[in-house]
Amino acid sequence: MIDELDRLKREGLHRTLTESSPADGEGWIVRDGRRMLNLASNHYLGLDHRLDETVLDRWRKEGGGDAEPERTIRTGSTASRLVVGGDPAVGRLERDFAAFKGTEACLVFGSGYMANVGIVSALVGRNDIVFSDRLNHASIVDGAVLSRAELVRYRHRDMDHLEALLRKADPSKRKLIVTDAVFSMDGSLAPLAALVELKERYGAMLMVDEAHSGGVFGDRGEGLARACGLTDRIDVHMGTFSKAYGCCGGYAAGDAVLVDYLVNKARSLIYTTAPPPMVVHAIRDQWSTAVAEGWRRERLLRTAAQLRSELREAGFDTGESECHIVPVIVGASDKTLAFGRRLQEEGIAAVPIRPPTVPEGTARIRLTPMATHREDDLREAVAVIRRIGVELGVIGA
Ligand SMILES: Cc1ncc(COP(=O)(O)O)c(C=O)c1O
Repeated sequence: MIDELDRLKREGLHRTLTESSPADGEGWIVRDGRRMLNLASNHYLGLDHRLDETVLDRWRKEGGGDAEPERTIRTGSTASRLVVGGDPAVGRLERDFAAFKGTEACLVFGSGYMANVGIVSALVGRNDIVFSDRLNHASIVDGAVLSRAELVRYRHRDMDHLEALLRKADPSKRKLIVTDAVFSMDGSLAPLAALVELKERYGAMLMVDEAHSGGVFGDRGEGLARACGLTDRIDVHMGTFSKAYGCCGGYAAGDAVLVDYLVNKARSLIYTTAPPPMVVHAIRDQWSTAVAEGWRRERLLRTAAQLRSELREAGFDTGESECHIVPVIVGASDKTLAFGRRLQEEGIAAVPIRPPTVPEGTARIRLTPMATHREDDLREAVAVIRRIGVELGVIGA
């Protein structure tokens, strides 16, 4: 262990845990005793949730199933849903969220990570093939590894490469194509229409991870698949409540057979305690606010476009970003770490992202604005980022 930790330190890849808490002012946090502009979170819509007596009272009255009209809001579920039975709030959320997504059914998991691991490892097995975009999230890769299926990675968003791989594959094998809808470290969008065409042509299943697009894309935040009019042509819609919705939990949505199958086969649903009812109520609140307050989606995307264009103008490489995740690609891990440290000293929280989270030589600062950031704060942040970029030789003077 010590040798490996030493190696990570030598190569600028060592990670440590930090603490942060909300500060006064929209989009600010306190970290290491300092007030900082928060450009580091996935809290895209800036949804606030305060738990007070009024909220608890409403939750107690919210029915579902055979529950008493006045209920206790439990913090724990005490067992898997298959063992003790789920709180009625979970089933109610699943029915309503499926209607919102435009699918027949939905299944809630404890987290997005658990959803991905459970779904992928349930859908494919030893004799099957998973086709995964090279920049897909680690939870998809872990699901594929756990499934024991062959994992075939295609170049990021390269549909010619994917097609060549599909053509080469044994036609008798079950095939699952998986993609992030918005790539979490790049802010690029998956070519969903082309993926649908390929999956139909080659008889594959298609799974789309809407972790970073849920709440943001679509008229009511349904996700990128809905925004592209492709909901019915995608087999598995996966997403999280942990990012734009500012809560926690994951889901799989699709037809009733899929959900029935996952209830029987997804080990990260079967062999773990169900999400706490209290959290399920909070998810519903956050989701309702996100639907109702469309200005947050519009403002987020507008603000991000402005941020990206100012950074590009300053000479930064923002890669293939085209939405609310804006990377500043630095290259070397040590320089990226130095960049992150200097930003922190100047009152900006932004995460340096290094391999293995991103490919070797593409370490970056990942910037994520929020719908609630003030324009002046972001303008000042760009000036600081620019000054540090020059100081560290990431951009020219
Ligand atoms: C694309 C993607 N999928 C899944 C997850 C896992 O979601 P969660 O944080 O809810 O476990 C994440 C982020 O953590 C992600 O970026």
